[in-house]
Amino acid sequence: MIAPSAGLAAESFPPANDLPAHKGLPDPLVMLDGERVASRADWQERRRPELRKLFQHYMYGYFPATETRVAAHVDLEDENYFGGKATKRQVTLSCGKAGMPKINLLVIVPNRRQEPAPVFLGINFCGNFAVLDDKQIPLTGAWVYDSCAGGENNRPTEASRGSQANDWSVEQTIDRGYAVALFHAADIDPDKPDFTDGIHPHFTTTGQSERGDSDWGTLAAWAWGIHRVVDYLATDRDTNKDIDARRIAVVGHSRKGKTSLLAAAFDDRIALAIPLQAGCGGTAPSRGTVGESVKRINDSFPHWFCDEFKKFNDQPERLPFDQHCLVAMMAPRPVLLANAVEDTWANPAGQFEVLQATRPVYKLYDADDLGETKMPPPGKLIDGKLGYYIRDGEHSMTRGDWKVFCDYADKHFGKPKQ
Ligand code: GCU
Repeated sequence: MIAPSAGLAAESFPPANDLPAHKGLPDPLVMLDGERVASRADWQERRRPELRKLFQHYMYGYFPATETRVAAHVDLEDENYFGGKATKRQVTLSCGKAGMPKINLLVIVPNRRQEPAPVFLGINFCGNFAVLDDKQIPLTGAWVYDSCAGGENNRPTEASRGSQANDWSVEQTIDRGYAVALFHAADIDPDKPDFTDGIHPHFTTTGQSERGDSDWGTLAAWAWGIHRVVDYLATDRDTNKDIDARRIAVVGHSRKGKTSLLAAAFDDRIALAIPLQAGCGGTAPSRGTVGESVKRINDSFPHWFCDEFKKFNDQPERLPFDQHCLVAMMAPRPVLLANAVEDTWANPAGQFEVLQATRPVYKLYDADDLGETKMPPPGKLIDGKLGYYIRDGEHSMTRGDWKVFCDYADKHFGKPKQ
C-alpha cells in the first residue's frame, strides 16, 4: 500500500544547492545523514522510507496523502472474446469524489486456465480503442496526442481504432496464459504542461493553496492511476476472481515506462515491473552523459516532475539519489529494464550501470542474481530478479518485446497453468 505522505511535505530537506555533490551514482546504502545501512531491517525500516520521501520531495512530487475510494462499474462483459479464447470486461473506475476523472479500464482474461491468471497491467498512450480494433470500446472524449493515429485537435476519431494493436499484441499475451488490464494515461492527466485538468485540480499534495515546489507532476499522477487499478484488482475479488492479484506485473513504454517503475517502486502489491526504454527520469541515470539530460527533460516536459527537480538542471550531481535507488525500492521483486540498440536517447548502457549499482540492495535480500557485469548482446535476455534486455531496432514496443515480457514473467511467476 502507499504509505500516506501526510506531513512529509513539511519535512525540511536541505535546499538543492546545499546538498553535497556526488559525481558517480551515490551509494544506495548510505542514508542522507551519512549513516550506513547495515541490514535488511535498516533498509526496510529506515532507508527505503527515506528514499520514498526524497524521491517525492526532489523529483516526482508527493502522492496525495488521502486514501481514495475506488468504485467500479462493469459496463460490458463479453465471455466470447477473441473467438472464445478470452473474456473481455470494460470497466469504469470512479476514484474519489464525484467530478474526479474516471479510469476506463479494459480487462481481458484468458478462458483457458486452471488457476486465476497473472496479469500485465499497462498504461497506454493513445487510448484503449487504439489497442484493439473493437467497435465496442468507446472512443472516449479523452484527450489524445495529435501524433496518435486518427487524433484530430487532440480528440480520437474512428481512424484511431486499433492503431496500436501491434504495440500491445494482446492476443499473443492471452495465448501465453496472461490476463491484460489497460487504461489510457490521459484518463488521469492529459500530457500537457498545465495543472488545470485531469486529476491535478483535485489535490495539492503539499497541502498549500498554491502549487508548491514538491507538488506532484504528471508522472506521479499517472502512477497514482496505476495504484487505483491495483486497488480495484486486489479488492474487487468477485469480479476479478479469474485474475491473480498476487501476480500483477506493470508494463509501460518510455514516459509510461518511467511511470510504471515509479508506481511499482511505491506499491508492494505490484509483484514485477517492466519499464521499457524508460530512459531519463525512469531507468537511466540522471547523472548520465549520454542521451537525455535532466535539464533537457525538464525544459521539454516541465509538468512531468515537481518544480524542485528543475533546481538540479545544471547540477544533477547534487541529487541525493539516482535512479538505481528507485529500482532498489523494488527489492527483492523482479524488475526488467528493457531497451533497444538505436534508442540511445534512453541511454541503454547507463541503464545497465544503474542495474549494477542496485545490486547491493538486492544482496541484502539474497536476491542479487544479476550475475553479468557486462551488457548482454542484443536479443539475449538476462532474466534475473534484476533483469536486463536489449534488442536491435528503435524506440518502440513490439510483438517481440511482449514475447520477452512473457518469458520474463514465466520465469518469476511460473508459467500460467492453462
Ligand atoms: C521523449 C522524451 C523521453 C520519453 C519519450 C517517450 O523522447 O524525451 O523522455 O521517454 O519522449 O515517452 O516516448
